[in-house]
Amino acid sequence: MKKYLFVSALSLSLLISANVKSQNQEIAILPKPVELTQQKGSFKLNSKTIIIVNNKETAGRDAEIFNQYLSKYYGKSLEVSQDLTLKTKAIKIFDVHDITMPDDAYRMQVTPDSILIEGKGAGVFYALQSLRQMLPPTKAETLDVPCVSIYDYPKYTWRGMHLDVCRHFFTTMEVKKYIDMIAFYKMNVFHWHLTDDQGWRIMIDKYPKLATVGGFRKGTLIGKYTTTNQKFDTIRYGGYYTKEDIRDIVKYASDRHVLVVPEIELPGHSMAALAAYPEYSCTGGTFEVSKLWGVFDDVYCTKDETINFLKDVLAEVMELFPGKYIHIGGDECPKTRWKVCPNCQAVMKREGLKDENELQSYVVRSVEKFVNSKGKTIIGWDEILEGGLAPNAVVMSWRGKDGGIAAAKLQHYVVMCPGEYCYLDHYQGNPATEPIAIGGNTTVEKVYSFNPLPGELTPDQKKYILGAQGNVWTEYIAEYKKVEYMAMPRLIALSEVLWLPEDKKNYADFYIRLKKHTALLDMMGINYAKPK
Ligand code: ACM
Ligand code: ZN
Repeated sequence: MKKYLFVSALSLSLLISANVKSQNQEIAILPKPVELTQQKGSFKLNSKTIIIVNNKETAGRDAEIFNQYLSKYYGKSLEVSQDLTLKTKAIKIFDVHDITMPDDAYRMQVTPDSILIEGKGAGVFYALQSLRQMLPPTKAETLDVPCVSIYDYPKYTWRGMHLDVCRHFFTTMEVKKYIDMIAFYKMNVFHWHLTDDQGWRIMIDKYPKLATVGGFRKGTLIGKYTTTNQKFDTIRYGGYYTKEDIRDIVKYASDRHVLVVPEIELPGHSMAALAAYPEYSCTGGTFEVSKLWGVFDDVYCTKDETINFLKDVLAEVMELFPGKYIHIGGDECPKTRWKVCPNCQAVMKREGLKDENELQSYVVRSVEKFVNSKGKTIIGWDEILEGGLAPNAVVMSWRGKDGGIAAAKLQHYVVMCPGEYCYLDHYQGNPATEPIAIGGNTTVEKVYSFNPLPGELTPDQKKYILGAQGNVWTEYIAEYKKVEYMAMPRLIALSEVLWLPEDKKNYADFYIRLKKHTALLDMMGINYAKPK
């Protein structure tokens, strides 16, 4: 009853305030809230402010994470209470199941007396991220929070960031920092690229050498990729995550409303696995964990023994990751070995496949069947369209938008990440003055201009576009500080692309907010490319 009254009061006050004033640039929330109206005055947040939550498990956990932030950067930790009758200056947080609100929406009303939050699903957490962004970027006794009314909700359900931990390895602490950035900008998917030619990064109990052998290489290419005169260092490089590490990360992400999607690459990008278990190749090896970047001819053989090995690996992966999606890679798989491998040719004959593209599709379908049998869905890079798409697969469109368009027309779900807009390993400014990157030119403005919905799709087909993500491949990113630099501020631009209705996007307005926001990035010690 109490709760119902509160909801009504807040809805009403938001209605009234909606007409008072237009959006004010003083408040620099990123991504921009769908509706925001600033009012006069401020709420004074100090050590005596109490947080009141209606649900200890949900809103309480969100409040706890907010408290950790206050403690770390402002030296305050607020009391959290469930006593809804307290008459004190408080942050009152209600986890609600309001069917009139979109998923993960929130309302927030800041007045001199209180901060009232109603959130649905992840909405409470998102409200608290907005609140964090309204706090001054410096430590003080009293933190002024401007009076404001916000009604806010996301546009897309997949608001992702990818991280390649194979070309360079990042510690669990660093991965958590990355997840912090994802969550702070109300993104909700962490695509964790765990296996590749240059390193296998996840312990699999049945095949421990994947990590202990496949997790380490004898050296690394020095400087930029060339086809001739390559130079390597001789430093053993690598690392892997234990199952405990993985569970810890998954929990950390889940507490921040971020879904972790693991990627186990197949059938290509598998040199590290083959270095550990050469019997699953076409030739029998021997192989080395790759010291060089690129695409390699030695890939998994398509024989039954290899398919069974892959199923075993995926069974352990699915146990670790409770989410619905398993990314199986599928990109950049040369067919060179398959064309001359008696085992692969025998599989083609047995299965009635007309070419090696269909053989790749056979591998993906076999794996999909297994993954589906555990109640999960596969995602693959857009090459999985070649040779026939597996029946329930989600397509991640990276070679432009065409793969995504084709998949949506086939009524398959799609995550957009065309290189031009979403590859955050590209340069973000003049290569002469930027740190070494793989190539390209993807400025923050370019990212901001991205529209994940291709114009050529019908409204029905557009429903298959789940959203988009930024990809951070790490051939030229050896240090975590550089991961931040490459991601920021382009991650923020992408977060707004994925949050705000297209007709509300405005780069000039975004840029003003971004510049103001850098003080907060400085406070948090996040490395970023400075907006000019
Ligand atoms: C990719 O960038 N090879 C998916
Ligand atoms: Zn073979």
